[in-house]
Amino acid sequence: MSIRALGYIGLGVSDLERWERFATHILGLVVEPHAPGDTLFCRVDERHHRIAVHPDGRDDLLYAGWEVADATELAGVAERLRVAGIPHSVAEPQLLRDRRVSGLVQCSDPDGIATEIFWGPLVEERAPFVSPRALSGFVTGDGGLGHIVLTVADADASMHFYRDVLGLRISDFIEFERLPGTLVNMAFLHCNSRHHSLAFMQLQAPKRLSHLMLEAREIDDVGRTYSLCEAEHIPITMTLGRHTNDEMLSFYMATPSGFNLEFGWGGKTVDDAVWQVERYHAVSVWGHRRQPVVQPLPIIQTERVPR
Ligand SMILES: [Fe+2]
Repeated sequence: MSIRALGYIGLGVSDLERWERFATHILGLVVEPHAPGDTLFCRVDERHHRIAVHPDGRDDLLYAGWEVADATELAGVAERLRVAGIPHSVAEPQLLRDRRVSGLVQCSDPDGIATEIFWGPLVEERAPFVSPRALSGFVTGDGGLGHIVLTVADADASMHFYRDVLGLRISDFIEFERLPGTLVNMAFLHCNSRHHSLAFMQLQAPKRLSHLMLEAREIDDVGRTYSLCEAEHIPITMTLGRHTNDEMLSFYMATPSGFNLEFGWGGKTVDDAVWQVERYHAVSVWGHRRQPVVQPLPIIQTERVPR
């Protein structure tokens, strides 16, 4: 075993204020107290943060933090990077403080996304996660933050990096017509019982991050959040539906940075002892109808906390 989970991500955004309201009032995350203009540390569970939102302006994924058990396993991953000829560095103390982790090795994935392998995250055991919305919370734990879906320049290079070097395992593939005339082959990879922590597709796109998925504990949280998005004019980019491969019941909304957030429930889990890689030709069993994105993205209108 090596990589255990997608532990955290860092986003670079152009509108920090809108992101704070989006994170708290729409997603129901807890944002740590901070000075105006400072990085937003968003809590999803008992960890200090799992999503860091930086005033960077790129409106894309800045880095992904992949978790290992301890310093020994981190050294093992660093050795695999060395053998594969992938440049990497051991984090300075300041970066460890910024990320709230105990040890960290940095490298880049084939598309230049900062990839951080870490151990020993800070757990806020004295302040249990309580959503500012009436949400049951999010499925994290051994399954990590959720999943990210990336657009990549070279799927073979990405497969080599994430599967052969980092040690993620293939869950399945979906080959589908993403847009009329555009056939896309998506690869889904797991590193724990969550069906996938990472998926990627070779596609020219303005952003590397296609979407981030958060999994609610209760199905009604998906419905409530769907209604909240409609009430607050948050663009729903794919309607409610159920995916073929991970069986996630979900919908997609546009974030203030333009990439999507999948809000889901009920994802299938993987048992490596019996898992069989499969291939699908459709993304969804039902629903997930693509909606045109309204530009510019509307401002979140109200600070009302729904109950
Ligand atoms: Fe997804």
